[in-house]
Amino acid sequence: MFRNLKNWCYGTLALVFLAGSFTSHAQGEALFKAKCSSCHQPHKNGTGPKLFKVRQKWADGGAKEGSIYQWVNNWQAAAASDSYAQSVSTWSPTAMSAFPELKKEDINAIMDWVDAQPEPGAAAADGAAPADGMTPADGAAAEEEGFGWIWIILGVIFFTIILAVGGVRRQLNIASSDANGEDVKEGMTYGEEFKTWAWKYRLYVGLGSLVIVISIIVSLFLSLYQIGVIEDYQPSQPIAFPHAIHTGVNGIDCKYCHSSVTKSKSAGIPSVNVCMNCHKQVNGRTPAQQEQIAKVYDAAGWDPSGAGKYIGKVKPIIWNKVHVLPDHVYFNHSQHVVVGGVDCKQCHGDMTKQVETVKVQPVSELNKIEGNIPLTKPTMTMGWCIECHSKKEISLGALDTKKDGYYDEIHRRLLQNKKAKALYGQYLEDGIVSVSELGGWECAKCHY
Ligand code: HEC
Ligand code: HEC
Ligand code: HEC
Ligand code: HEC
Ligand code: HEC
Ligand code: HEC
Repeated sequence: MFRNLKNWCYGTLALVFLAGSFTSHAQGEALFKAKCSSCHQPHKNGTGPKLFKVRQKWADGGAKEGSIYQWVNNWQAAAASDSYAQSVSTWSPTAMSAFPELKKEDINAIMDWVDAQPEPGAAAADGAAPADGMTPADGAAAEEEGFGWIWIILGVIFFTIILAVGGVRRQLNIASSDANGEDVKEGMTYGEEFKTWAWKYRLYVGLGSLVIVISIIVSLFLSLYQIGVIEDYQPSQPIAFPHAIHTGVNGIDCKYCHSSVTKSKSAGIPSVNVCMNCHKQVNGRTPAQQEQIAKVYDAAGWDPSGAGKYIGKVKPIIWNKVHVLPDHVYFNHSQHVVVGGVDCKQCHGDMTKQVETVKVQPVSELNKIEGNIPLTKPTMTMGWCIECHSKKEISLGALDTKKDGYYDEIHRRLLQNKKAKALYGQYLEDGIVSVSELGGWECAKCHY
């Protein structure tokens, strides 16, 4: 069997495939945690049913082919066209969110990951933590375990390649000996033969190994780069609050609700009293609207019957944070919005068209908006921040047109001393003074 070259080739291919599927495994886990885990668990029913082996369940239940993918993209459409999906949709009064952005591969990656989760009972018997209700620490441990696996698999692939190459050379050797009518050299063990061969071709073996090692390191580095970068992150929210209706149709100013955006570091999320300023009167026209607005009343402790009155205690609405920077990063809204004159839509997209709850807009979407500076790095990453800092000028037109005097001061100081004046000339060589030229690339400006 060892001498059978074909088997080796298949084996290697299978392993390469396995390693490839690991990347999609990590992708599936990330997507599940970002988009589905608020309602679904692999093995336990929650807001939504458990998802373990759900593709099998649908196939067994007689669902139309592909219907389950349509379900995840838009469950209403699936329920309309497939009677099995229709029956699933009555599982609970809560409706599932739509995920039109997920491609079939993404959904398969999610389901593959879910199907690979061990049954909690079995895990507990092993003394391991149950998969359900994982604490973050467990998650991290599981992730590390995943990496261990990648290394083992890469090691096996490497070893296989070496053996396969050895096999080829052995077969060639036998063939050429045969052709020359020589005796085939027997008695040499596989290892010995490999050693002689490797030594003879040490230059190629060395170069080959170097290439393999470098490519492994590069691919690992690239995959590490992707960790935590989920560009269109959209957590579910307790109330399906549509920005489009409030800021678009009803034209409410962002600052009415995000009142600290021009004054402080954070923009702030409105408390339920702000909602009640209008919703004491506005209780929705369709049942779907009424259902959502009823949650606002519940949070405010408001009884809308009759003239309406406050009856209960205020329960804060727990919104899930959408845009999240790590703790070691300092970001200030008023500095960008007021001083820098950057529009909200440059970073958050056109909220007047956001019909669903808020999501982090991928940079490709942001670039489509008129007036936005086109950027290339994923939104909310360090590359994204510094790319804008190198492209964005600190003010449009001449520096001294800013009325608040902020740039005047910089301008004056730059002109005052001779050395600075030369520097200022350099800044203006490309016609703009960019944020980075005034220190927007200094690590300490953004990192605590
Ligand atoms: C807001 C909560 C919510 C989120 C988020 C959510 N789901 Fe659901 N899901 C549900 C509910 C509720 C049902 C049950 C159907 C119903 O009652 O409408 C369901 C049903 C399903 C079903 C059918 C289950 C079965 O047993 O037949 C699948 C498959 C599914 N969801 C996949 C997903 C995937 C994949 C994601 C993430 C991309 C996701 N869901 C995110 C609430 C949610
Ligand atoms: C009627 C009140 C209201 C108005 C007006 C409003 N928002 Fe919001 N905004 C909210 C609420 C409530 C949330 C939290 C729910 C959510 O994330 O979907 C939110 C969330 C956000 C978020 C995501 C916050 C996070 O967690 O990262 C952004 C960004 C945002 N709003 C931008 C805007 C912009 C830009 C405008 C103006 C065009 C605007 N909002 C107008 C109420 C409002
Ligand atoms: C230069 C990019 C940029 C601009 C411009 C910008 N934001 Fe943000 N916004 C961010 C970042 C980055 C975060 C995440 C902050 C964090 O996690 O500390 C954020 C978070 C938010 C949040 C969540 C709550 C908070 O303060 O963390 C809201 C709401 C919000 N922005 C609204 C707005 C509104 C309204 C405007 C326009 C008036 C605006 N943003 C302009 C980058 C921007
Ligand atoms: C300035 C007035 C105003 C404020 C403030 C306001 N809303 Fe609304 N809201 C409206 C109007 C108007 C509608 C549209 C109702 C309709 O179409 O009949 C609406 C609709 C809604 C809907 C139903 C949307 C749908 O179509 O599903 C929800 C949910 C909602 N608001 C939640 C909130 C929450 C949460 C807050 C506080 C963060 C809030 N609103 C603050 C005026 C307001
Ligand atoms: C769309 C362009 C844009 C993006 C994206 C952006 N910034 Fe800025 N940033 C600016 C502008 C314009 C200024 C200049 C404001 C000023 O003059 O103080 C600025 C200034 C700053 C400053 C102050 C620099 C100084 O010299 O005092 C910090 C800190 C900062 N940004 C952090 C961030 C972080 C962190 C991010 C990413 C999360 C980010 N910025 C993303 C445009 C941007
Ligand atoms: C304009 C703001 C800005 C500047 C300037 C900046 N960073 Fe960052 N940095 C960020 C942001 C935002 C993140 C978080 C990115 C993320 O979560 O993907 C980050 C993350 C990091 C991380 C953690 C890596 C990670 O993926 O979490 C390191 C290390 C780092 N920065 C080092 C530096 C060094 C060194 C400098 C100076 C040469 C620097 N940064 C300058 C904004 C900045």
